[in-house]
Amino acid sequence: MTDRLIKGADLVGKGRRDVLIRDGRVAEIGSLTAAGAEVVDADGLVLLPGLVDLHTHLREPGREDAETVRSGTRAAAKGGYTAVCAMANSYPVADTAGVVEQVAALGKAAGYADVQPIGAVSIGLEGKQLAEIGAMAGSAANVRVFSDDGHCVSDPVLMRRALEYVKTFGGLIAQHAEEPRLTEGAQMNEGPVSAELGLPGWPSVAEEAIIARDVLLAEYTGARVHFCHVSTARSVDIIREAKARGAQVTAEVCPHHLLLTDEAARTYDPVYKVNPPLRRDADVAVLRAALAEGVIDAVATDHAPHAPQDKDCEWAAARPGMLGLETALSIAVLALGGPDDVDWDLLAERTSRTPARIAGLEAHGRDPQPGAEANFTLVDPAASWTVVPEGLASLSRNTPYAGRKLPVTVQATFLRGRATVLNGTIAEEIQ
Ligand code: NCD
Repeated sequence: MTDRLIKGADLVGKGRRDVLIRDGRVAEIGSLTAAGAEVVDADGLVLLPGLVDLHTHLREPGREDAETVRSGTRAAAKGGYTAVCAMANSYPVADTAGVVEQVAALGKAAGYADVQPIGAVSIGLEGKQLAEIGAMAGSAANVRVFSDDGHCVSDPVLMRRALEYVKTFGGLIAQHAEEPRLTEGAQMNEGPVSAELGLPGWPSVAEEAIIARDVLLAEYTGARVHFCHVSTARSVDIIREAKARGAQVTAEVCPHHLLLTDEAARTYDPVYKVNPPLRRDADVAVLRAALAEGVIDAVATDHAPHAPQDKDCEWAAARPGMLGLETALSIAVLALGGPDDVDWDLLAERTSRTPARIAGLEAHGRDPQPGAEANFTLVDPAASWTVVPEGLASLSRNTPYAGRKLPVTVQATFLRGRATVLNGTIAEEIQ
């Protein structure tokens, strides 16, 4: 592989520097010239550690009409990601060593981003019997995070056993917090808008009750719990109190919960149907503040591609979920103050360093330093773009931002020094 010299990038917290990449790693940082190196002009660009997504639905195996590991990781690279954690709700479910190894192998073969499979907590996501957690942890996929996402581990006994199990090897349960009895038939956030539209409501307490319970179980067992897609102000309060007591809990928020509200449901456009649902303005404000403060540890996309037949139908019949990978960075910038005021160091913390730490991905979430793997993204902070669904790298089109102008663009993404995206374009051959 030829050496690569990134010239004049703004290194978060360090100012303008050149970065020399050799054999996939950072060789030198400073004011550099390098004969024979391929130069990437990064004048005016911010260099971030490659983004890490804790929550991606890649749909393979089973729903390759909606996304494949290849198309999903191309979308990830386009969005500035160098690693994604693939959720277990595929067909078959990722509840055995065989399936997680297959997903990891597909990720390696595609080469656009590191794919770390998440294993199911329960067989078939049915919430009845523990899946082969030990076999998945000991497999070549080295699974450390387990989740029934899409479903809540609602049985407290099963949750307790899962926590006790993963604690033995330093693993983590990522909980989709939704008390199922409180959301039967639910279609959107419960409140004045659902009442007006006549759609069955999804009460915020369905999320908060499970978060409160699992905080207590985490403290009781001494195990680690991570809360997926936190969406309500009261959930933030509970997590804040838990952290103050020293509970080993972490939490993520999705870009759409940082920007959109249940008002969008007035369109009856199912592109806005998502689990958990879009909430109220007041929740958005609290989630933004909690992200800035660190009560919410990370931004995670919950990238949920859906085929047209599952989304272009009446609201009640549509599957919940929206695309996220290609728009997450722009929305995170908006949520953290906008392109002129965003604190890039904080942004790197919430979108890269902390999620890498939570998932245990040691080669990711690292700022450039000699010897470290060259997993970076170059962002143009002054540019903007308009979301055109047909132009997205994802196989699916269910973005809630169609036609919207968003700040900042990803100019390049490097995975172990190889450009997965260069000049804003996905590499057809990664080199
Ligand atoms: C997820 C999906 O489509 O896999 N959808 C979503 O709205 N977040 C699963 C789920 O949580 O329902």
